[in-house]
Amino acid sequence: MKRKLPSSLFNPISLMGILIALVSFFAIVILFFANIFLAPDNPYIGIVTYMIFPLFLILGLFIIPFGMYIERRRRLKKKEIKERRLPNIDFNQPEHRNAFLLFLMVLIGFIVLSAVGGYQAYNFTDSVVFCGKICHSIMHPEYEAYLDSPHARVSCAECHVGTGANWYVKSKLSGAYQVYATLANKYPKPITTPIKNLRPAQETCEHCHWPEQFYGGKQKIFTYYLSDEENTKYEINMLIKVGGGNPKTGKTEGIHLHMNIQSKIEFISADEKNENIPWIRSTNLSTGEVKTYINEEEPPSEELLSKSKTHIMDCMDCHNRPTHIFNTPSLAVNEAILLNRIDKSLPMIKNISMELFFEDYETKEIAVNTIAEKVWRFYREDYPDLFEKQKDSIERSIKELQKIYTRNIFPEMGVKWSVYPDNIGHLDFPGCYRCHDNKHINEYGESLSNDCFLCHTIFSQELNGQKEEAFTMDGVEFKHPVDVGDDWKLSGCYECHTGLNP
Ligand code: HEC
Ligand code: HEC
Ligand code: HEC
Ligand code: HEC
Ligand code: HEC
Ligand code: HEC
Repeated sequence: MKRKLPSSLFNPISLMGILIALVSFFAIVILFFANIFLAPDNPYIGIVTYMIFPLFLILGLFIIPFGMYIERRRRLKKKEIKERRLPNIDFNQPEHRNAFLLFLMVLIGFIVLSAVGGYQAYNFTDSVVFCGKICHSIMHPEYEAYLDSPHARVSCAECHVGTGANWYVKSKLSGAYQVYATLANKYPKPITTPIKNLRPAQETCEHCHWPEQFYGGKQKIFTYYLSDEENTKYEINMLIKVGGGNPKTGKTEGIHLHMNIQSKIEFISADEKNENIPWIRSTNLSTGEVKTYINEEEPPSEELLSKSKTHIMDCMDCHNRPTHIFNTPSLAVNEAILLNRIDKSLPMIKNISMELFFEDYETKEIAVNTIAEKVWRFYREDYPDLFEKQKDSIERSIKELQKIYTRNIFPEMGVKWSVYPDNIGHLDFPGCYRCHDNKHINEYGESLSNDCFLCHTIFSQELNGQKEEAFTMDGVEFKHPVDVGDDWKLSGCYECHTGLNP
């Protein structure tokens, strides 16, 4: 029988290449559809479809000509064919014609497949599933917190990579190092922040929220429960003066004054995490007036000032936890009591919750078991009557406490609220008080004030049913819910409040 393709193709190596290429090709096609229809969330199908099988396909396609080359060398040696450096292609010979057409078809097919596959691979390696689930043990805390945040529908890449080939390549290179670090178990636990190569806010956040946008005030109701026997309720209703670029006047107002429209704010920090900021400069962009604020109590050293670069304040200096929000136990438990997931009628429930979260547990399992054990024991021993009557509500509350633990604390990665300070307020972390502490003074003797009315107005506060309210911009004066004298005025709230009720 006359062969329709060059005879050199029919050698074991090339045939094996064909087999590998064909199997990979069909596997990719089948998995491609399986991925779309059956398991869109499975990261491993993605890896196999867009990374592993394509590698095999390419390998197979390389093996084919390699086999043909070896075969020709063999035949040359055995003198089955005459010495010729390059094959003589003759389109009048059907096997050459067919081989050429086949080659052309495979080439076109391969280019189309690579275009589709490359695009899919590009999307896939930027997908939330890829980022959040592949390195499951490492990214687990960030992924869990993300799913539960206002940005759950914004992909990881939109904040971490952004648009443009340059950053795509950069992120993949750093990603490749991360894969190595994972395999070699060399990554830091917890992952250190601020992330060194995070893209500037102008190129990520500001695609969706731009500085000239005006937000006005934001009214928020904060509900707390004290650590006393009755879990006394305390509530503050306040207007936070967010502001922004005012389209009518062209000026910035309120808190978003820091967004570099009207004035630029720069600082130098004495630590990696930007928690200790001894030097700040604000430049009025229309008048050019410059003010430099220095922490009078802990002034920056000459050495620090000369060797540090100034950092221009941007969104991330306040919104450093826009999506990986690890709630403080106090906040999470307050919320759960408010929603009646933890029963407020259980005496001391807030207090024992805080004691439970004060401990560090080695693993999630130990934590979950200890929480159940200690709460059961507490009510059995201290409130035996109630223990018999309210078993259901104790059990429900325990379940919720366990959920709060698994959502916010990740012992295997060393992640919890205190590891990643949230800079948006000032109750549990210094936040705004890093600068607005009345201790940073400029050359005109002005300080960055911590006047309680600068950033918000309290409309009402209510302690145990006793309410005081005034829905005006003057609002009411803050009253600390328990008597701590004037301490709340004199020191930062965060010196007593640490995420667990003090
Ligand atoms: C809304 C924007 C945004 C999205 C979406 C986002 N991140 Fe982040 N992420 C940040 C910011 C901002 C930081 C830096 C925090 C800092 O430097 O203090 C960060 C930090 C991290 C860190 C460092 C550890 C930490 O907790 O600070 C990891 C890991 C991380 N992100 C992974 C992810 C993964 C995985 C996803 C997708 C599932 C994701 N991020 C989605 C904004 C985002
Ligand atoms: C792809 C678009 C997108 C990007 C990028 C993005 N956000 Fe958002 N952001 C949103 C959406 C959508 C919401 C939710 C709005 C809502 O729930 O009302 C939101 C909400 C917010 C909120 C309000 C959260 C709350 O508690 O109500 C803040 C603050 C915020 N984003 C800051 C940031 C910061 C900082 C970055 C950059 C690290 C960022 N965003 C990046 C789309 C985006
Ligand atoms: C000086 C700190 C600071 C800086 C810098 C800052 N913000 Fe804010 N932003 C706040 C505070 C405080 C709030 C109100 C907090 C809250 O939601 O409880 C807020 C609220 C927001 C909201 C929610 C508004 C609403 O009405 O729900 C968005 C969105 C937002 N900021 C985006 C940004 C973006 C984008 C940038 C950078 C261009 C930025 N912020 C810079 C402190 C800051
Ligand atoms: C890095 C230091 C720094 C941090 C952190 C910081 N600020 Fe500021 N803030 C400044 C400077 C500097 C000014 C401008 C003072 C000036 O114009 O000379 C300012 C001005 C303001 C103003 C306007 C005051 C006025 O006179 O109108 C408000 C409101 C404000 N900040 C709120 C906040 C809030 C809320 C936070 C925390 C979420 C915060 N700031 C965090 C440095 C900071
Ligand atoms: C530089 C601006 C600024 C100053 C000054 C300031 N606050 Fe605040 N405060 C904030 C911001 C921003 C938040 C909002 C945090 C959030 O949205 O979670 C806040 C939140 C609070 C809360 C709710 C706390 C929480 O997170 O549960 C209380 C209570 C409060 N402030 C009281 C005060 C009192 C009392 C003073 C004066 C001693 C004061 N603040 C001074 C910016 C400021
Ligand atoms: C001297 C220490 C101290 C300082 C400073 C302090 N507090 Fe408190 N705070 C307490 C104590 C103690 C309680 C009672 C805790 C409890 O019963 O659970 C408390 C309770 C609270 C509560 C209700 C309970 C909760 O869930 O957090 C709020 C809100 C609060 N403080 C706000 C503030 C604010 C805002 C500031 C700063 C302006 C501040 N505190 C400064 C000691 C302090």
